[in-house]
Amino acid sequence: MNLQALLAAMKPVRRHGEYVYVLWPHGRPLAPGIEAAVREAEGLTVVLPRATADTLELPYDFVASWITLEVHSELEAVGLTAAVGKALTDARISCNVLAGFHHDHLLVPVADAPRALEVLTELSAASRHQPRPELVLRNETAADRDKILALTAEAFAVSPVTGLPVKGEPFEVEVLRQLFGCAEYLPEFSVVAELAGEIVGHVISTRGWVGDYGLLGLGPIGVTPRLQRHGIGSALMKDTIDRANAAGEGGIALLGSTEYYPRFGFVPAASLGVQPPEESWGDHFQLLPLALWPGGVHGTFRYAGPLAG
Ligand SMILES: CC(C)(COP(=O)(O)OP(=O)(O)OC[C@H]1O[C@@H](n2cnc3c(N)ncnc32)[C@H](O)[C@@H]1OP(=O)(O)O)[C@@H](O)C(=O)NCCC(=O)NCCS
Repeated sequence: MNLQALLAAMKPVRRHGEYVYVLWPHGRPLAPGIEAAVREAEGLTVVLPRATADTLELPYDFVASWITLEVHSELEAVGLTAAVGKALTDARISCNVLAGFHHDHLLVPVADAPRALEVLTELSAASRHQPRPELVLRNETAADRDKILALTAEAFAVSPVTGLPVKGEPFEVEVLRQLFGCAEYLPEFSVVAELAGEIVGHVISTRGWVGDYGLLGLGPIGVTPRLQRHGIGSALMKDTIDRANAAGEGGIALLGSTEYYPRFGFVPAASLGVQPPEESWGDHFQLLPLALWPGGVHGTFRYAGPLAG
């Protein structure tokens, strides 16, 4: 699953010869020599050696070199195609990707093939030489608390609501301090993100209710300012959602940006019958119904004590 290890182990190999994309004539029996095929409503596309297409008198436009990405690994290629595609796009080389059971294959214009091999070899070498620390998500421990509070102070030093610098300690810090000590604190839902031993993000969810139905209230969430917009907040959100599903929770509620949270599946809570504690929050009060969301939960959400303010 580690993309960097996968790229480091990747060996691009160019196949002999030239290949073309051909629309196979309707009704004609398939001939030997076809290397790949895609059936669509409009017809059958096949990839085959140019010489074979010439022998069969089949027309084509795109003449390609075939590069196989050999990866000596049992790892799943998560993100590999995207990384390779980006490197080639940056080098202004167009490519068609075919995924086989064992390997990915790239078809690039013949004239660009030598450069494509160079780009891919460089990409692989760069991954070998620059070991990047991995983001670790783990439960918060009591020893992390001061660092988490400092991180929260930094993250909220500029108000996400007004966009202006906050005078003194942001109120989220005191809220968090109290959440750590409150009855609704849930240890498995206070998660830190750690990069090379440094705590760079934190998210907490605590017990909240609609009537007597318990669900999670998420927040605050914060990421070290210099590392914001690098996916750490998203990783914390996804981890919380996974943990909540695994724990059999029904839903997660939060107050936040209507631009950011919908990407994780959050919708205005009122659309599901759950009203914000304060009416003025409107659509900013959002809810993610989890796998076990029962439906039919109607009423006003109540946060854990320190958040209920
Ligand atoms: C909000 C926060 C936790 C997000 O974490 P992050 O690591 O910066 O975010 P990610 O890198 O995972 O996500 C980046 C994406 O979210 C968007 N995004 C991040 N914060 C956003 C916000 N407040 N409003 C709208 N979009 C936001 C970015 O534009 C980016 O979009 P893109 O992928 O389309 O380019 C972090 O920016 C932070 O600590 N902010 C200050 C404190 C705060 O506002 N907390 C939340 C209060 S509701």
